[in-house]
Amino acid sequence: MSLSIVILAAGKGSRMKSDTAKVLHRISGRPMLHHITRCALELSDDVIIVIAHQKECVREAMAEFTGVRFVEQDTDNFPGTGGAMMGVEPKHERVLVLNGDMPLITPKALEGFLSAQAAIVMSIFKLDNPDGYGRVIIGEGGVERIVEQKDATSEELHVNFVNAGVYSFSRDILRRYIPMLSNANAQKEYYLTDVIALARREGVHVEPLLVSEEHFKGVNSKFDLSQAEAIHQERLKRHWMEAGVIMQLSDTIYIESDVVFEGECVVENGVRITGKSRITRSTIKAHSVVEESVMIDSDCGPMAHLRPKSYLERTHVGNFVETKNTRLKGAKAGHLSYLGDAFIDEGSNIGAGTITCNYDGKKKYETRIGKNVFIGSDTQIVAPCSISDDVIVAAGTTVTRDVTQGALAISRTKMALVEGFFYKFFGTKA
Ligand code: UD1
Ligand code: MG
Repeated sequence: MSLSIVILAAGKGSRMKSDTAKVLHRISGRPMLHHITRCALELSDDVIIVIAHQKECVREAMAEFTGVRFVEQDTDNFPGTGGAMMGVEPKHERVLVLNGDMPLITPKALEGFLSAQAAIVMSIFKLDNPDGYGRVIIGEGGVERIVEQKDATSEELHVNFVNAGVYSFSRDILRRYIPMLSNANAQKEYYLTDVIALARREGVHVEPLLVSEEHFKGVNSKFDLSQAEAIHQERLKRHWMEAGVIMQLSDTIYIESDVVFEGECVVENGVRITGKSRITRSTIKAHSVVEESVMIDSDCGPMAHLRPKSYLERTHVGNFVETKNTRLKGAKAGHLSYLGDAFIDEGSNIGAGTITCNYDGKKKYETRIGKNVFIGSDTQIVAPCSISDDVIVAAGTTVTRDVTQGALAISRTKMALVEGFFYKFFGTKA
């Protein structure tokens, strides 16, 4: 498509009150700039991202997007969204400009901009509370200018048509008006929004496009971030429910954008699933956390914690079980265990309170548990350790060496029984 897209991502974002660059704050597990860039790459082969503040961090965070160009803004001399456009050389004649702090934008929501023909098309929405946005001043001839909140008169502050921050310009418009911008305003910045008034003065028609906040919301504060994430989460969860996932009290569930479900899955209330987790025909019970893990024909929880690189296949993991970098195939770990850097094979049962001692304070070691192994409750397996097939480990054992096939491993202090000790110690009740 012959369209260039410019994403403005050079600002400081001081209202976020954060050391992290604003566009790198996350929505559903991904930086805001990833969401908008993904959207842009679906529409254009010429995506330009303007950076300045924390530019190295931003470049690094964007490393996976090989198809974009970066342009550095001279924020010392030319701050502001207009300054951001000064070094930009679009390849195509039509240029879509997006603010980098709009993580909710979708290709579909931008359709109106792609079909519009006018030399300038700008996005507008109407808000009961326009706080923070630039106000759009509309006169008899249509849109006249945009006034930023900090420059607005008390009358203008009441205007509730606001600039959503997406514009489609012809390249000629940008070439003519960007050099004409001035910084004579409250923030001493070069505002891209002033292009509208400059062009209108020369009789250029500005076409307004009414858009919805649900897609064009700008994130300027942590409160905005949280609201935008709520909208994004609802969208994601609806997508997966439409694909067949059952979600109980879906408002209480958090799912990151790289999570994938396959087949019919059940996600109970209070569940959090993050990273590139893949959940296939599985059930995640209430208040479990699943991070960057795979579940196939399995169930976990309530209150299970699958930490990164857990892999469960035909497996049951019960309450208060924590796994990390562990594969369970056709196995069970019903209660209260820590299984780290382990492989547990078909038919094995891990008793309550089993701990793989995978860390000696310096390095991590692996535990292997074969097929049909019965691990009794309250067992510690000191890694590295390999337990062969058909083994019984007695409850309370500390396994400190490899166990051969078919064996019983038991380590216990012999129990003593002192008859009548209770009465001797506490005295006989009257
Ligand atoms: C901007 C608009 C405002 C609109 C709102 C919509 C201007 C002057 N104002 O205000 O009319 O209602 O978006 O969300 O454009 N940026 C740069 N370089 C800079 C400054 C900002 O690249 O020097 C980038 C930021 O990283 C951000 C985007 O431009 O992604 C918008 O900047 P921001 O400071 O959020 O502008 P708003 O005050 O929200
Ligand atoms: Mg903004």
